[in-house]
Amino acid sequence: MATVKKDITEVSDKITRVKKIVKKRAERLKEKELLQTPISEGVSWKDLNFSHPERTVRIGTVFSGIGAVEHAFQRLGLKHQIMFAGDIEPKCKQSYFANYAIKEEDWFDDIRNFDATKYLHKVDFVIGGAPCQAFSMVGHRLGFEDARGTLFYEFARVVKETRPKVFLFENVRGLLNHDKGRTWQIIHDIFEELGYDVKFHVLNSCDYGIPQHRERVYCLGFRQKTKFEYPAPVPLEYIMYDFLEDYIDTKYFLKEKGVKFVTSHKNRDKSYTQINGDIQLCQKRNQQFNWHGDFVFHPDSELTPTDEAFDEFIFDVKDVEEKYYLSDKVVKYVLAGGTKNFKTSTKTDLDIARPLLQSMHKMHRAGVDNYVTHKGRIRKLTPRECLRLMGFKDSFKIVVSDTAMYQQAGNSIVVDVLIALLKQMDITKYGI
Ligand SMILES: C[S@@+](CC[C@H](N)C(=O)[O-])C[C@H]1O[C@@H](n2cnc3c(N)ncnc32)[C@H](O)[C@@H]1O
Repeated sequence: MATVKKDITEVSDKITRVKKIVKKRAERLKEKELLQTPISEGVSWKDLNFSHPERTVRIGTVFSGIGAVEHAFQRLGLKHQIMFAGDIEPKCKQSYFANYAIKEEDWFDDIRNFDATKYLHKVDFVIGGAPCQAFSMVGHRLGFEDARGTLFYEFARVVKETRPKVFLFENVRGLLNHDKGRTWQIIHDIFEELGYDVKFHVLNSCDYGIPQHRERVYCLGFRQKTKFEYPAPVPLEYIMYDFLEDYIDTKYFLKEKGVKFVTSHKNRDKSYTQINGDIQLCQKRNQQFNWHGDFVFHPDSELTPTDEAFDEFIFDVKDVEEKYYLSDKVVKYVLAGGTKNFKTSTKTDLDIARPLLQSMHKMHRAGVDNYVTHKGRIRKLTPRECLRLMGFKDSFKIVVSDTAMYQQAGNSIVVDVLIALLKQMDITKYGI
């Protein structure tokens, strides 16, 4: 019987071709967008207890700002020690030192000059959100050393030098899509290259108790391989009005030009501005100066005529500010039910806004059904309200100017999201 001779070269060519295809596919697979770590379907983080409340967690923060995570530890009443913190902005240092216990020698200004090696294995948890404009690693796949020159590199370097048990890297949501996802892939790979088990998910603060639309990516790195799922959203129990102050300095009320800008259809339709919203637009560092963001409409028609002290105050205000009140025309325009935001909020004022109603018994007789027919004024949020809407309690001391405080609040991480994460990961496990 004649045998068919196998052409070995042909087979090997085929193998080479197949190998090439497999390699390409594998590469393409690697290029694919990384998947977010799942959200927990188990017990809500709200009902979880810390396993080791007796332990002290040693924390180190970079790009520290006003110390959102430090405030989260304070709010949770957890034992912690600030090993280091720093920010290039001197006014952040002022705010930070007024609110947290830290030694001068543990503070650094520019992260690029911060040698963190002396904290090797002395810190359990490192946290930082590098300013987002710092990422331009466009193009090639880079390793840790190639990321040099970016502020992300500085964060990664501090992790490398200190080797914490856990780190949290927070940033804007857009970072995940930057350069078609490649920037995130690089960051992710670098964290893995440093030996961390990396998780990430985009969380919106309005899903964690704070009425603000603020989506951020929260990336956690665990030195040990760790089972971790992100905290599940919880229903929002408060609206923005619940965070407002009772008495407002007249300086926060808008003058004519501001009112026109804020109430313009264009700006409201594009969500540049919002009046009496239930959920705050994302707080930005500059919003209070260019009239972008959230504003509050104050009806001033139901003043208590018998409350002399208050009348005096109000008359003073009127004397000075009469020209800033909305004209009837503007009021009609503003309250014409033009946008869905406004309709909702008007209704909300009537039904829910308890803290405001508490002040209303002093300020405005709660004949709120007259609401839409009366004059009023529009104001911006105060720095304290901006802080509250970032999860900072009033125990947080304001020691800088309004301008600086708005910027610092707008730059911060929402404390309530951090609380959800700290509970979900049971941060006390990493304490000593
Ligand atoms: C997005 S904010 C982070 C705020 C912080 N997470 C908080 O809780 O308030 C970024 C911060 O990085 C600071 N920063 C920018 N460049 C820096 C540098 N080279 N060294 C140290 N801090 C820097 C900014 O001043 C700013 O406060």
